[in-house]
Amino acid sequence: LRGAVGTAHAKTILLGEHAVVYGRPAIAFPVASLTLEARAESIGSGLALHTPFHAGAITAEDDAAATREEHIAAVAVRRTLERIGRPLDGVGVSVTGLIPAARGLGSSAAVASAIAVAVAGLHGIALTPADRFEIVQSVERVAHGTPSGLDAYATTAAGPIWFEQGRARTLAVAESPALLVADTGVLGRTGVAVAEVRARHERNPHAIEAAMEGIADLVVGAREDLASAAFADLGERMNACHGVLSSIGVSSTELDALVQAARRAGALGAKLTGGGQGGCIIALAPSASELPALAAALTASGATGVWFVTDGEENA
Ligand code: MEV
Repeated sequence: LRGAVGTAHAKTILLGEHAVVYGRPAIAFPVASLTLEARAESIGSGLALHTPFHAGAITAEDDAAATREEHIAAVAVRRTLERIGRPLDGVGVSVTGLIPAARGLGSSAAVASAIAVAVAGLHGIALTPADRFEIVQSVERVAHGTPSGLDAYATTAAGPIWFEQGRARTLAVAESPALLVADTGVLGRTGVAVAEVRARHERNPHAIEAAMEGIADLVVGAREDLASAAFADLGERMNACHGVLSSIGVSSTELDALVQAARRAGALGAKLTGGGQGGCIIALAPSASELPALAAALTASGATGVWFVTDGEENA
């Protein structure tokens, strides 16, 4: 037992958040500029964790507090050891790199995924994709209820994915769309947003099913747009999707303001991304060379961080 390493990256949902919880398809992209690395080592006794936001022993109480970021990593260590049938003892894990939490960027799935690979690797076990997925999902369930599984796949995917009914496939893209993610600086509340949509669904299933069907149509259309580099059409679908997401209550004043700012600055389309009620927007520039100007406009409009999705550059 020496050291072992696992890595994962952030993700952003191009289209399909929330509807994916109701069995509809979604499209997600990796954000390669936002990565983290977990390193597992043998230690004398107990379980220990060192992350940018937490350092100390791992205890059973971490499970109860797992909606907090520091505990998600602790739960991931325990769940991995349970899954591979090894004692909850003698493992130290450190996490470096940072994916901002509660921004709809999949930070909890990424932390869990990197830790799962590192801890299993320390025991000489190469996790199958299915095992890794199950570990991440079990952590995500503690963190926010009823995850669709999209984040668990997207956090390790090398390129864009099509996710439907619990399965992910590589998505064919003719040409990279010029996408960026911009942060409102307000913490997103995926768990709350998903629960509120569920309450609306119970009250008025027809209206919410119609909204989800509308989103599904946009996702299917976007797949064609990506296959043929029809970016003006893709932008229109993103704009339409933001409207539907607003109608089901998952946008916010800050998200709407950044979406408007992106469109004013020449984006072909912009919408919230992820769980909403805070967190980030995703915007499509007409070309990669126009990404820096769009990023600058969004920063001037109050974005607290901007990350390019497709070309790996970062300018937070
Ligand atoms: C969160 O990144 C995306 C949601 O669709 C929730 C989920 O898929 O579990 C809002």
